[in-house]
Amino acid sequence: MSLRRMLDPTRTGTEADVLKESLHRRVIGQDEAIDEIASAYQVFLTGLRTPARPVGSFLFLGPTGSGKTRIVEATAESLAGTASAVVKIDCAEFQHSHEIAKLIGSPPGYLGHRETHPALSQEVLNQYQSERLRLSFVLFDEIEKASDALWNLLLGILDKGTLTLGDNRKVDFSSAMIFMTSNLGAAEMSAISSPRMGLLRTGLMGDNRVEERASNSAREAARRKFTPEFINRLDKIVVFKRLGRVELERILNLELLNVRDRLFRSHPTNSFHFALTDLAKDVLLRSGSDQRYGARHLKRAVENLLVQPISNLLATRQVQTGDSVLVDSAEDREHLVFFKESRTGTKSASERGSSVAA
Ligand SMILES: Nc1ncnc2c1ncn2[C@@H]1O[C@H](COP(=O)(O)OP(=O)(O)OP(=O)(O)O)[C@@H](O)[C@H]1O
Ligand SMILES: [Mg+2]
Repeated sequence: MSLRRMLDPTRTGTEADVLKESLHRRVIGQDEAIDEIASAYQVFLTGLRTPARPVGSFLFLGPTGSGKTRIVEATAESLAGTASAVVKIDCAEFQHSHEIAKLIGSPPGYLGHRETHPALSQEVLNQYQSERLRLSFVLFDEIEKASDALWNLLLGILDKGTLTLGDNRKVDFSSAMIFMTSNLGAAEMSAISSPRMGLLRTGLMGDNRVEERASNSAREAARRKFTPEFINRLDKIVVFKRLGRVELERILNLELLNVRDRLFRSHPTNSFHFALTDLAKDVLLRSGSDQRYGARHLKRAVENLLVQPISNLLATRQVQTGDSVLVDSAEDREHLVFFKESRTGTKSASERGSSVAA
């Protein structure tokens, strides 16, 4: 009699788990995309990927400022140590046939043949590969804007894992993860999920069915726009979710950690501590995010309202090493005010009754 033990094929190995954790630390609220990237990486690690095809090909749909581009950078940061490892092609820049030469170079004999260095050469692709990681990351942004010539290139890459340059050299994409992004369907998604935003704001849980409908409408928009031969060659289509208040708050906290990190790096001998009240965070969230643009302007709000004033405080020596600074909302609820916390100091925000968040 043989013993039969049930196995768990959903568990991933340590390296894929480490990637997942790293992505979760960087990208908020887009778990499906994280799982898909980790799965493709797992198949790559075990060597079971389809030969002569890219390691994975993903189409990311969904609203602007929801993390589609960020997750690709985060994958490169996690695996290759830098976001610069992403070879990024803005499809809107290659609308005419002569612009395709910037990608693949022109045939020998053409004017400027020697001067053009194709943006998609093997050297560029392998630039950030190492002994440890033979993997590249290629991002085609805004593919709905690609010209027919670019589509044909893309189809060849997805299907055969190769690209033929202007001078007939071949570029091997079989060690590349291919990411494509598009805002297609975002308008329809927005129309469906807007009422839900109201529910989210009042703290009621979102409706999964609304989410599903929004996601389906984005997929349908993609199917209407793209040819079946393209859709059939993709490994995965992931619809990014519209970020709610909770996710935006977590992204703000990530940005604030970045500022702390930068402060520490640039002023290792003059580092001070700063904390924000809940109201101060609210100012940043309202200024840097909204339904239409997601988290797109959050960084800018943090730069303008927090980092710039802090730079001034440092330059004028109003704060120094070991100081503790409390950041609160100004009366107008659109700016921030800064207090140096000291035992004998002037009236501080905490004395004014604000709650300190971080
Ligand atoms: N889910 C997220 N997790 C963490 N940060 C995010 C997320 N979404 C957006 N951000 C922040 O907002 C910025 C803009 O997001 P990103 O460039 O990924 O948007 P996108 O979805 O690619 O939008 P678009 O369709 O306009 O290109 C990021 O650099 C990051 O700082
Ligand atoms: Mg983008």
